[in-house]
Amino acid sequence: MATPFATVNQTLARERAASVQASTRVPYHVAIIMDGNGRWARKRNLPRIAGHKAGTDNLRRILRASVELGIKVLTLYAFSTENWRRPQEEVNGLMGILEMVIERELDELDRNGVQIRHIGRLDRVPQGLQLKIKSAIERTKHNDKLILNVALNYGGRAEIVDAVRAMVAEGLSADYIDEDTISRYLYTCGLPDPDLIIRTSGEYRTSNFLIWQGAYSEYYVTETYWPDFDENELRKAIEHFNKRDRRFGGLSQ
Ligand code: FPP
Repeated sequence: MATPFATVNQTLARERAASVQASTRVPYHVAIIMDGNGRWARKRNLPRIAGHKAGTDNLRRILRASVELGIKVLTLYAFSTENWRRPQEEVNGLMGILEMVIERELDELDRNGVQIRHIGRLDRVPQGLQLKIKSAIERTKHNDKLILNVALNYGGRAEIVDAVRAMVAEGLSADYIDEDTISRYLYTCGLPDPDLIIRTSGEYRTSNFLIWQGAYSEYYVTETYWPDFDENELRKAIEHFNKRDRRFGGLSQ
């Protein structure tokens, strides 16, 4: 009997993933600026919120592929400190989608060993969503397959302000403050800096994302809008990352 088409496809996908892993270094920490939801929707004459929904549906395949590839930390830019400037309707819609996605995906994420974390300022986030985030963090805190770091109401400058405030509040003497100290006071304390930062939709900006941690990250920009950024696009980004010569300011080996 012929092998069903879906099975062939799944086998090919598994083999492709295995070959990427065998021949390439998989970045430990990947961070993504998920851009282009609005333009994806406009191209289809849909409201912007439909783009955010499609972008959210895309998370599932990127998370699965990340676990499969062996990525250990995935940081996603879900909502920036500047995104509050968007129309109230869009902000509310996004907050609703975030709440829905936690409800919908939490069981599977937990089953697959994903540890959920949050970076950013939770205070301005609606109460209901705050509670869901806190309970997802608590429920998954012992998982160790992949750390999913959700940047929500996140801004790189705000993060540095918060770090400086905490250091001052704790009375740290200037003599003790060096780069490692600052790293320890950032929201990402304890996590390695991102190896690879991906930005979808063709914009060449950091948009206040991981501005301290990204000092030596490799950047990869693709024209593809976030809802269309699938597992093959992720593999392509990793293949590009592998061609980079990371010198961290030094010389090639
Ligand atoms: C940028 O597209 C995208 C966002 C501001 C929101 C991204 C959020 C999600 C995909 C929701 C789920 C996320 C998590 C981690 C649960 P844009 O609206 O700026 O697109 P445009 O530049 O084409 O207008």
